[in-house]
Amino acid sequence: MNMKYSIIVFISLLFSVGAAACSPVRGEGIQPDRDIKMPDDGLMIPRPMEARRLEGYVDISQPLCLKIDAQDDVAESLTKYLRTSSLSIVGPALSDMPLLLTVSEDEKLPSSEEGYHLVISNDGISIEARGRAGLFYGIQTILQLKNMYGASIPAWEITDWPRFGYRGMHFDPVRHFFSKDFLKKQIRMMASLKMNRLHLHLTDNEGWRLQISKYPRLTQYGAWRLGDIWDDWNKTGRRFVNQGTAGAYGGYFSIEDMKEIVAYAKERNITVIPEIEMPGHAFAMTASYPELACVSNEFSPVGEICIGKDSTIEFLKDVLTEVMEIFPSEYIHLGGDEYSIDYWAKCPDCRRKMAEMGFTDAHQLHGYLFRTMEEFLAGHGRRLIGWDEMLTGGIAPDATLMSWQDEKAGQAAALAGHDVIMTPGEYCYFDGCQDSPEKEFRTPDSPPALWNFLTLQRVYSYDPAPLSMQGRERVLGVQACSWSEWMPNEKRVEYMIYPRMFALAEVAWSNLNEHRDYTEFRRRALRLCDWARNEGYNTFDLANEIGERPSSLKATEHLGYGCEVKYNKPWLPDFPCDGVKSMTDGIHGKWTYRVNWQGFKEMDVVIDLGESKTVKEVRADFMQYADDRVVLPGKIVISCSEDGKNYTELLSLDNPYDVYKYLYRTYGWKGAERKVRYVRLQASPALEGGSVFCDEVEIW
Ligand code: ACM
Ligand code: ZN
Repeated sequence: MNMKYSIIVFISLLFSVGAAACSPVRGEGIQPDRDIKMPDDGLMIPRPMEARRLEGYVDISQPLCLKIDAQDDVAESLTKYLRTSSLSIVGPALSDMPLLLTVSEDEKLPSSEEGYHLVISNDGISIEARGRAGLFYGIQTILQLKNMYGASIPAWEITDWPRFGYRGMHFDPVRHFFSKDFLKKQIRMMASLKMNRLHLHLTDNEGWRLQISKYPRLTQYGAWRLGDIWDDWNKTGRRFVNQGTAGAYGGYFSIEDMKEIVAYAKERNITVIPEIEMPGHAFAMTASYPELACVSNEFSPVGEICIGKDSTIEFLKDVLTEVMEIFPSEYIHLGGDEYSIDYWAKCPDCRRKMAEMGFTDAHQLHGYLFRTMEEFLAGHGRRLIGWDEMLTGGIAPDATLMSWQDEKAGQAAALAGHDVIMTPGEYCYFDGCQDSPEKEFRTPDSPPALWNFLTLQRVYSYDPAPLSMQGRERVLGVQACSWSEWMPNEKRVEYMIYPRMFALAEVAWSNLNEHRDYTEFRRRALRLCDWARNEGYNTFDLANEIGERPSSLKATEHLGYGCEVKYNKPWLPDFPCDGVKSMTDGIHGKWTYRVNWQGFKEMDVVIDLGESKTVKEVRADFMQYADDRVVLPGKIVISCSEDGKNYTELLSLDNPYDVYKYLYRTYGWKGAERKVRYVRLQASPALEGGSVFCDEVEIW
């Protein structure tokens, strides 16, 4: 260990420990920063709030003599948990290495129920906390140290508590179904990372995944589809079939399965929050019970339920009654995103309801549904969470908003006095690729992902409640989402979430603000990846990460650098890049076409070198992201001129459309040196209705 470093840490912490105002968990965990850098001996994720390295190492391969001073139920459940852990636990007097767990109201302890004070020394290990959750997290820190260092763990004194009370991870067993054991495996990792909310997306267009006794067809029919791959099913008529039909893909959690998952999570301080989607994303529901839609039948289900019929509302209340019996969570997530009003606007029942309520806009039906459900849940002591779209139809008074598109909905809801959970796609959606798309999409094991390119570093850079945010005290916390449209199996889900979940966990727990040191975090993440892989988690290979597109990191100063560009055809208004500077600013695009690429229906630009120069090469990069009809050029022409009137063609290429999803390709001319003042590049998309995206015209 680096001694000098350790002494600095020691001194700075001596000051900070005494002054620490420990925070409760809700939003106000936003505290002044403490500059804690983890030395080599502190390979924990998430980084503790306060930590002081003590002398030496402690051998924990020997049995630990467990002594718990806590309420009986706490003592019993922690003893049970410890016996399943990798620690060797014995009763009193059977070892001289004590493990003391104490529930205490000592004022020096963090005020958060989840906070703890841990001392690991050669005299033994002691954890003090205000309750079970804090003791559990102290144990997690010991277990993580053991995972990192083996039998002999570094001695530490740690005082720790979470920045946010809500530290969530979301799984989507609808688009592709995952087993109970898979969820338990992820719960174990979440607990180790001190994450405490598991959001399960249980219903959607592609399937209904939770047994509801009163409505068995939801899982006997709505949980089975013809076609395992989500995208294929979507493109081939969206058929459901009865359970047991040959070729049926799907599955669901029985009530007993789900209760088992909930209990398993609870032992690990994790609350499972079920999401039952309404009013949209409802094909599986309306296919199973067509009368729930405005017009529907099982072969042509509709994506929205009919809000005008009181029987629909009664159906949903029945479902939620059973859901509340399975899930003790205070929060029930009702979804509410991406719905259409098309059917409601034409439906006699919906129109009657609108007239009765005095609504002038069909979106208000959404607000009506959520207010009705909020009241129903509140009658059972529960609250609702919904996505951004709740703001459109009038958000229910006590609703908590989960902000997914960006942070704007979250900010607006917080300002209006609502609690908010942040999961903006740009930082928290783990369905986008985490490394070069060229690498990520070119193996048989790598199905496509979204355009979204989200590196570990970017996840780590996220602050869910920055100082500049008005209403930041309403931010309960942060969550990552792993939508599984493009994750056809469990192995792929793990690949997409690890190690990004490590970064999210630290963003949620630790107070990073000004001391966010990615390089230092990455070192810890690499070690944790090694351990996770040994434990059978299929993590992304962080050690061999390519990272952001290399050419985008540094400006290229070619002959045309900084020169004027004339646009014979306009760029796409939504993709202006850097305007007229884009093609000669030396800056290449990132992996996603949304950053530093300029888009065109037809590209036709002329670069004026300002004077006649000797040129031997002209080249330009284009990219393709076929899902969004961003395609490579079908035709590309490069020509040059001395006078700006008479052009000589240097290159003319016709390319057939290449169906591959992601492509980056350089087109260019290279030849004998020639005198040139003007360079013209024309490109048209290889697919009708598509567009071309270029980042720079390099002239050499
Ligand atoms: C969402 O991603 N539509 C919540
Ligand atoms: Zn209707």
